[in-house]
Amino acid sequence: MTDPMMRELGLILLSVLLIFATLEVVASHGDQPLSTISVQKATFALHHQAYIKVSPTLLGLKGQNTDWVTVEFSSPNPSVEDWIGVFSPSNFSASSCTAPADNPWVEPPLLCSAPIKYQYANYSTPKYKETGKGSLKLQLINQRSDFSFALFSGGLSNPKVVAVSNKVAFSNPKAPVYPRLAQGKVWNEYCEQFFTYPAYYYFALEIIQLKSDSQMTVTWTSGYGIGEAVPFVEWGPKGGQPIRSPAGTLTFDRNSISCTISKDYLLKTRNALPELFLKLKRHLICVIMLMCSGEPARTVGWRDPGFIHTSFLKELWPNTLYTYKLGHILSNGTYVWSQEYKFRASPYPGQNSLQRVVIFGDMGKAEADGSNEYNDFQHGSLNTTKQLIRDLNNIDIAFLIGDICYANGYLSQWDQFTAQAEPIASTVPFMIASGNHERDWPGSGSFFGNKDSGGECGVLAETMFYVPTENRAKYSTDYGMFRFCVADTEHDWREGTEQYQFIEHCLASVDRRKQPWLIFLAHRVLGYSSATFYADTGSFGEPMGRESLQKLWQKYKVDIAIYGHAHHYERTCPIYQNICTNKEKQHYKGAMNGTIHVVAGGGGAGLAEFTTLNTKWSLFKDYDYGFVKLTAFDHSSLLFEYKKSSDGKVYDSFTISRDYRDILACTVDSCPSTTLAS
Ligand SMILES: *[C@@H]1O[C@H](CO)[C@@H](O)[C@H](O)[C@H]1NC(C)=O
Ligand SMILES: *[C@@H]1O[C@H](CO)[C@@H](O)[C@H](O)[C@H]1NC(C)=O
Ligand SMILES: *[C@@H]1O[C@H](CO)[C@@H](O)[C@H](O)[C@H]1NC(C)=O
Ligand SMILES: *[C@@H]1O[C@H](CO)[C@@H](O)[C@H](O)[C@H]1NC(C)=O
Ligand SMILES: *[C@@H]1O[C@H](CO)[C@@H](O)[C@H](O)[C@H]1NC(C)=O
Ligand SMILES: [Fe+2]
Repeated sequence: MTDPMMRELGLILLSVLLIFATLEVVASHGDQPLSTISVQKATFALHHQAYIKVSPTLLGLKGQNTDWVTVEFSSPNPSVEDWIGVFSPSNFSASSCTAPADNPWVEPPLLCSAPIKYQYANYSTPKYKETGKGSLKLQLINQRSDFSFALFSGGLSNPKVVAVSNKVAFSNPKAPVYPRLAQGKVWNEYCEQFFTYPAYYYFALEIIQLKSDSQMTVTWTSGYGIGEAVPFVEWGPKGGQPIRSPAGTLTFDRNSISCTISKDYLLKTRNALPELFLKLKRHLICVIMLMCSGEPARTVGWRDPGFIHTSFLKELWPNTLYTYKLGHILSNGTYVWSQEYKFRASPYPGQNSLQRVVIFGDMGKAEADGSNEYNDFQHGSLNTTKQLIRDLNNIDIAFLIGDICYANGYLSQWDQFTAQAEPIASTVPFMIASGNHERDWPGSGSFFGNKDSGGECGVLAETMFYVPTENRAKYSTDYGMFRFCVADTEHDWREGTEQYQFIEHCLASVDRRKQPWLIFLAHRVLGYSSATFYADTGSFGEPMGRESLQKLWQKYKVDIAIYGHAHHYERTCPIYQNICTNKEKQHYKGAMNGTIHVVAGGGGAGLAEFTTLNTKWSLFKDYDYGFVKLTAFDHSSLLFEYKKSSDGKVYDSFTISRDYRDILACTVDSCPSTTLAS
């Protein structure tokens, strides 16, 4: 941004943010484990008798992107507080970082960045304190750089580097990894959504509209920069002739206000790769400036996000099995390939076939090696992932409705989340919604002015995952007989707002004869919840939620509304204006006369308590990890199931059976008065 007024405004905003930052009180529950490390206070206390060694040094020799290392270490002054930090890139020392150019108030810390993971030295070696020797097995994922390990004394709050290890690396650190599928937008796929995003500035170097009717998008991450290689997807029906589709590239920058990549650079790229550029004509590049960001996203939590590529696959045959591979053509003509993946194309809207949807919120990530565990942060997440993978043959599409990985400004965690979710996200469309941990930041335009995103302001979520939106994070998507209206609770939804209009349009525009199953999704509980933190406010839900939206749910006969944010499971009766509209509890027939509200926030992050107050509308509560599954058998029968993540078994369920006449039937406030008059 060259405009001096904008720059001045930015500085004022920044100083306001800094004042807020100093006032913040540290809460103890739900903290990102990496935030417990006082990276800025770290000092060096290297000891010649201490060591830390890691083997093997070359990882992923069989082409895999996950591998295990053995860490051996020794200290002459061992303590229970000693810990091991894993750093990537490996050159983590002071020389490689400076204060953000536009933020001279911040002193450069001795360590540039938080580790990507950590573990106590005594974790696998309880006798470490006596013997001074220990070993540890840690899992690493391919995330574009090499790794080094450091042994620390002084605990997490006063870290002192005692020894630094050798470096280890994956055989191709830049490899294309962790593909994420998402349903496309059906028309006009292009980068322009970033133009309308108020939270950060963007620089679109070259935007060529991709007019398309793409039904599936593939997003992945690599270390191959703009101009270094051309990204594409090779795909086709299983056993058929493959074709290649070009991909756009997104990345973002930590602290430069002026764009370092100019139009000249782009022209140079074009000149360097003329044939490839022409061959893959529609090349799309955006560099985003992470402007609204704050601590830790732009300081110790920053890690180069690499390059995020999205390709739009078009003219798919419904229900057909496709295979695909991610590819990059290097400037010398060499091809780099990912492994082969497969997916089944989505059914045509209205298509009558078996359709199975899983929905859950607040999953988070956890480490299989036990590292980064603090305060039961998200240990349920691995079980949820495991159950979904186990049942993957019986799942057609997945929705993670906000609070995706709780990176909270520690950017490395996004790679680790996409690695954990890869088996699911690379096989079925993996649709997200925006939560407080993706979006909220003071002064950034979010509806709530808290710091839950750790300065990410939604940039990471909406770059790492494709969202078929036209503006911000809300969208409508169709899957066969389902219409999903996905709201964005981190922006205002009240009557009169653009979002309210969007929701009404989404609910009103579906032809229920073809798509009878109308599902409303959102992160915060806009409907009904017995979570203590909602019940204590007296509103049993997000303030201004039902008040604003219940007339829409009722008028358009939303079948089920599902939320996250409260970390547990709860289901209501069909309800309107706090009153159950139907006495049935399990087998609904005909008009329900209200909407069933479900909280499915038990995806994996630390559980939330229920109030002891009992309401008439709450039919089932479960204080445990789990997810919900909807199965549409045809246009008139739907099965709803709640499964626990620990065993994948069903603990609550109901069915809806009805035909189109039941949807036409008017009940209290469900038909517009004009219709009644005529
Ligand atoms: C291991 O270290 C942790 C963290 O300092 C400490 O809480 C725990 O008691 C130690 N365990 C043993 C067996 O020493
Ligand atoms: C550290 O490594 C990164 C990438 O591996 C490189 O860009 C950077 O220049 C290095 N810094 C120093 C001080 O060597
Ligand atoms: C092309 O470049 C890559 C990366 O620099 C290198 O590994 C590869 O050997 C090169 N191939 C040829 C044919 O020169
Ligand atoms: C994960 O599942 C196992 C059983 O498969 C269970 O014993 C364990 O408690 C579960 N973990 C969590 C955090 O729920
Ligand atoms: C739904 O509302 C209609 C019209 O008010 C009423 O006739 C019907 O009995 C209601 N159904 C149930 C299950 O309460
Ligand atoms: Fe949340």
